[in-house]
Amino acid sequence: MAKILVTGGLGFIGSHTVVELQNKGFDVVIIDNLSNSSINVLEGITAITKKEPEFEKLDLREKSKVQAFFKKHADIEGIIHFAASKAVGESVGNPLLYYENNINTLIYILQELKGLKLLNFIFSSSCTVYGQADTLPIKESAPVKPAESPYGNTKQIGEKIIKDTCKVNEDLNAISLRYFNPIGAHESMHIGELPIGVPQNLVPFITQTAIGIREQLSVYGDDYPTQDGTCIRDYIHVVDLAKAHVIALERLLSRSNDSNYEVFNLGTGTGSSVLEVVKSFERVSGEKLNYKIADRREGDVIAAYADTEKANNVLGWTSKLSLDDAMRSAWNWQKKLKN
Ligand code: WQD
Repeated sequence: MAKILVTGGLGFIGSHTVVELQNKGFDVVIIDNLSNSSINVLEGITAITKKEPEFEKLDLREKSKVQAFFKKHADIEGIIHFAASKAVGESVGNPLLYYENNINTLIYILQELKGLKLLNFIFSSSCTVYGQADTLPIKESAPVKPAESPYGNTKQIGEKIIKDTCKVNEDLNAISLRYFNPIGAHESMHIGELPIGVPQNLVPFITQTAIGIREQLSVYGDDYPTQDGTCIRDYIHVVDLAKAHVIALERLLSRSNDSNYEVFNLGTGTGSSVLEVVKSFERVSGEKLNYKIADRREGDVIAAYADTEKANNVLGWTSKLSLDDAMRSAWNWQKKLKN
């Protein structure tokens, strides 16, 4: 079966994708520098699939190490590239870290593709590229707006680098997957989200508040022009998202792609407000969440949720799990971490 490289494969989305790849019989080799993950995740993946993926601790910013890796693994037939820094707020304060870690590493990998047996590349992108879209739900054809953060800019630049490279290399087949808001954990409770430090994202902050690690959730603004005044996002279960990556990879391996560069939005197609997410958590956990309404957070868009038509009809993928399923799995995972 084809050998697939997953960079950032011990991260939140990466680890769930490795599980789904192995479930489909792919051989997986993971590169991760463990800057935002733990080697224990390898154990978690193996506990689920009973097959330990090959793993190399490697920092993709070290070009010579990247070159050596690809010489050793010339039999790779596909790459799913997750490895990147991903905290919006952190990127504002540390732009050069983000441009080096998210852009240089992408270039070093693309430069090595010429030596590979097959050139299939899947890029982890984000709905952040749209900023505040003019029309909802958001289609892939929506204009990419000037990024509101260096993190968002690295995703926009990354997509352009790949698109331009595909233009001059017809052997390279690439797909950019623009995620909305990934949440939840694998039902086995062997893997899930492992935020380091104070979580920036809503759902881990909710579960850490409920378990007693955080005092209180601050809801960043309830004076937005939405039905309950809080921001709206498209929260997609990380397992649904992982499965989409395998389907996209199979599309490239079978050469079913319509062009050698495609873009797909990955969301549920349904928007949920912050307070609706809190209510979902309380419903599935039976816990009363301690939260307060706080000031708006700089850079937040009012609403973002996906038009899933292209992913449904062209990619042949649709999300299956609900917001309650995701919140239940996130809470079960948080309780497991506590023990
Ligand atoms: C969701 C909503 C907050 C925390 C970002 C990136 C995106 C992706 C996911 C990497 C917003 C509100 C949050 C809190 C709150 N990152 N919130 N209190 O900002 O939509 O997306 O993370 O891949 O690229 O842009 O996600 O979870 O931070 O916020 O009220 O303590 O929850 O204001 O409305 P976001 P988020």
